[in-house]
Amino acid sequence: MCGIIGYCGHRPAVPVIIEGLKRLEYRGYDSAGVAFIQDRELVSVKAEGKLANLENKLAAQNVYQATSGVGHTRWATHGLPTEKNAHPHCDAARTIALVHNGIIENYQELKKELAAAGIRCQSETDTEVLAQLVGLYLKEKGSLAEALSKALGRVEGSYAIAVVSRDNPGMLYAARKHSPLVMGVGVGENFLASDIPAFLPYTREVVFLDDGEMARIDAGSWQVMDVATLAPITKDVKHITWDVSSAQKGGYKHFMLKEIFEQPTVIADCLAGRIDRQENRAILPELDDIPAPQRLFIVACGTSYHAGLWGMYLMEQWAGIPTRVEIASELRYREPILGPGDTVLAISQSGETADTLASIHLAKARGAKVIGLCNVVGSSVARESDVVVHTQAGPEISVASTKAMCSQLTLLTLMALVFGQKNGVLPADVAANCLPALERLPAELDTALPAMRRRAKELCRIYSEARSFLYLGRGLCYPLALEGALKLKEISYIHAEGYAAGEMKHGPIALIDPKFPTFALAPLGDLYSKAKSNLLEVQARGGKIIALTNPGADLAVDHPWEIPLAWGPISTFFILPALQLFAYEMADYLGKDVDQPRNLAKSVTVE
Ligand code: AGP
Repeated sequence: MCGIIGYCGHRPAVPVIIEGLKRLEYRGYDSAGVAFIQDRELVSVKAEGKLANLENKLAAQNVYQATSGVGHTRWATHGLPTEKNAHPHCDAARTIALVHNGIIENYQELKKELAAAGIRCQSETDTEVLAQLVGLYLKEKGSLAEALSKALGRVEGSYAIAVVSRDNPGMLYAARKHSPLVMGVGVGENFLASDIPAFLPYTREVVFLDDGEMARIDAGSWQVMDVATLAPITKDVKHITWDVSSAQKGGYKHFMLKEIFEQPTVIADCLAGRIDRQENRAILPELDDIPAPQRLFIVACGTSYHAGLWGMYLMEQWAGIPTRVEIASELRYREPILGPGDTVLAISQSGETADTLASIHLAKARGAKVIGLCNVVGSSVARESDVVVHTQAGPEISVASTKAMCSQLTLLTLMALVFGQKNGVLPADVAANCLPALERLPAELDTALPAMRRRAKELCRIYSEARSFLYLGRGLCYPLALEGALKLKEISYIHAEGYAAGEMKHGPIALIDPKFPTFALAPLGDLYSKAKSNLLEVQARGGKIIALTNPGADLAVDHPWEIPLAWGPISTFFILPALQLFAYEMADYLGKDVDQPRNLAKSVTVE
């Protein structure tokens, strides 16, 4: 998830673009760049790191004549966050510069084609491939609109792009498919951006572009047309009343809620380019050169640890790999039996968690192979792992991790499939059903989330007096029970304990009384009847119960919460957001600072 912006108007473009990028930095902040036409030359200035680095670079140059240009703030997905990989990317002849938000899934194939045509890409990015393709077709077609239409017809994946062209100063083109793109209509100026905050101080008149649409803007006019046919499309201009901060949250009250509702897109982005639909096989090129682990140690902290614990179940069942899950702050001070031939999977959203990093150092010192599963490209975990697989969750702003865990579960599912395929032990029903169920998930979850939020709101108002909760789950729902309890604790400050349901009668059942409610995870499936009998034990002690389950369940509990049922472990992807929404609604109802909870940091870089 990057931020793009384009401007055509009467003001010096670069300051407008930089200010706009600052309001888009929540979308990505590991490198940035601008491009504009000056003295009929295409000028592009890029810098690694925070936007301030780019500003310093621009300050040293005279960039204030141009009144149109494009800008980009990056969240790396393909290629490290370096100046070379920063956007804009130009074609070989430097006739166009392009900024992009999204993922070009078939960029490797297109790159080979370009190489065959004698065009070498300078960067590691998928985006430059598109810029080179546009340049190639521009030579052929002579018209930028036609060149864009042809090039975009070749790419698979998602994109929102803005393009500045040397031979068409004062004008920009843009197009979108699956990534957000809006146009800001001003007086004597027009804007393009990934999100409204970018140009809100200048205009509240907005045109929302839809998939498959291309736009052309200059200072005084704008048109929208179909990407494939270039046929004109009529669009309405909408008036926006939001302020910048709520616009950055996309109209949501908190980043946490926005990030919960982003999970359908996050799953789709994580699956992009990783499913061979012909063969119905999962593909993770990053793991091509390594055999399936003989012994696997998953190591992480907090929510990432819970994701690892969930992953263990699949690694054992689908790939037949003996798997242990380790709390990083414990592993680093233990004498684990770990060495050559062993594989450590280090999971981290931020990639900077000190205990997880120390565990990587320990594993490497012992000769084990380290796979990093990480959300931040170029982070320490990503750089120090032997192999890194990136989760495509985009920047996670809220301290409470939500969409990052969803992305971790998605990649752990793909990893277990890949290792099961490598070991030749993947169960037939898993091979047949898992990927289709995963591909259906984004749309199904997108449909289910609003109703799940309504139910969460109802329940947290009923239970807002509770000072403690017991979360119970069996099997894959055990790590989720731990996660549900963690979410409630960290943002609502209500005490909560996650417990393996079968373990309850060995102690915690002593806590049960009418004031100590139980949040039970009881989806239909192999362990449903076991979970049900645990709930009868709770009811026998007068405990109140919220039970997450599926339509058709026969749980006579205080508050059943029915969510959609999906194939096997994929049901988890409905349970997780329900737990997140309950914690969110409780914290919001209790007036807590949801995005910045007390005593917590987004990335724990000290031990
Ligand atoms: C989760 O909501 C917390 N922010 C915290 O437990 C977090 O998961 C933990 O600090 C690990 O962070 P990481 O994934 O960035 O390594």
